[in-house]
Amino acid sequence: MQSALLQILATLTLLGCGVRGVDVGQDMRSFSSAIKDGKIGPNTEKVLYEHSTGQPGVITEQWFTGINVMDERMRIRIYIDGEAEASLDFMLLLAHGIGFTETLEKQYTPWGTRRLAHTADGGIYNTYSIPFSKSFHVTATHPVGGYFFYIIRGVENMPVVVGDLVLPANTRLRLFKNEDVKLSPLEFITLANVSDTAGMLFQVTLAANSSDFNYLEACFRARIDDAANITWLSSGTEDFFLSAYYFNRGIYHLDNSGLTYISSSPANAMSAYKFFENDPLLFTKSFELIWRCGETINANSGCPNDWPPPGPSESVNQGGSSPKLADTVVTTYTWVYEYSF
Ligand SMILES: *[C@@H]1O[C@H](CO)[C@@H](O)[C@H](O)[C@H]1NC(C)=O
Ligand SMILES: *[C@@H]1O[C@H](CO)[C@@H](O)[C@H](O)[C@H]1NC(C)=O
Ligand SMILES: *[C@@H]1O[C@H](CO)[C@@H](O)[C@H](O)[C@H]1NC(C)=O
Repeated sequence: MQSALLQILATLTLLGCGVRGVDVGQDMRSFSSAIKDGKIGPNTEKVLYEHSTGQPGVITEQWFTGINVMDERMRIRIYIDGEAEASLDFMLLLAHGIGFTETLEKQYTPWGTRRLAHTADGGIYNTYSIPFSKSFHVTATHPVGGYFFYIIRGVENMPVVVGDLVLPANTRLRLFKNEDVKLSPLEFITLANVSDTAGMLFQVTLAANSSDFNYLEACFRARIDDAANITWLSSGTEDFFLSAYYFNRGIYHLDNSGLTYISSSPANAMSAYKFFENDPLLFTKSFELIWRCGETINANSGCPNDWPPPGPSESVNQGGSSPKLADTVVTTYTWVYEYSF
């Protein structure tokens, strides 16, 4: 009896069932570097680390701290494989799901999850897997400058593993950004637009502000491999971030999603992030991620209120039932892994 069970377990192990990640390889090598009390001059792009052994690999962790520089003006660039322009070019706070300012968000620290944390004044880190095929370098730029501390680690010859999925060796991480875009009521905004490649959505951060919170009615939608077909991703904005009822229980920080800021005065502002690590959103040809300033129900291109959703010709309630909406200013960061088979 027992040996039969062991045999089944051994077979399952051989088949790779339920095994997370990949086997360690002899050619896998960790690299790590740190800077203590470094100095960044005003508006000067400072190299934090450079890696160029010619081997492929992934960055597995980056931690940032500093005096007067850990704010919404800190810009990080990661140049992969000799790029002239950094394909990963981000504001430090937004890359960690934090919209608006350090001063506003700091009241909710310390917090941390599997992929992100804000543990102290500074103490901002992530464990995003950032692949490269030969080399990369990381830089920091701040308009005023100051002192900083930095840690980076990674592993050569290790693939990107997202949740239970091992991604192909040619995987690249891409970042799609919208910065302070002003939307009119019911206007659409594209968060990511990927064509001619396969891939998976990794993370979405959205920060919005308006005289009215009703923009939260917006359902997220995607077009996956088919420009003519909408895939509904959520029944509202806070629902996409796995909260409910306009985030009525306030700030939360979880592995799958979090709310880093919310305020209804002097205006209605929120900032939230969602990871798709445990909830893979995969595409093989193309991908468009779309949000909207508010929502209509059932009307042409509005969010369905039933299953199956009405087709365009049987749309009811044209114009939809829409709450009072106001112009909304929105910033989004969308991280997508792209690869080919
Ligand atoms: C995505 O990009 C394609 C090609 O540039 C364009 O035709 C399409 O309108 C874009 N989609 C969105 C939703 O912006
Ligand atoms: C959208 O996708 C569904 C499900 O795959 C399919 O039945 C339908 O025909 C598609 N619609 C269009 C307009 O391509
Ligand atoms: C939202 O907009 C209002 C009005 O412009 C502004 O006073 C407020 O500071 C903004 N909130 C945030 C968090 O940026």
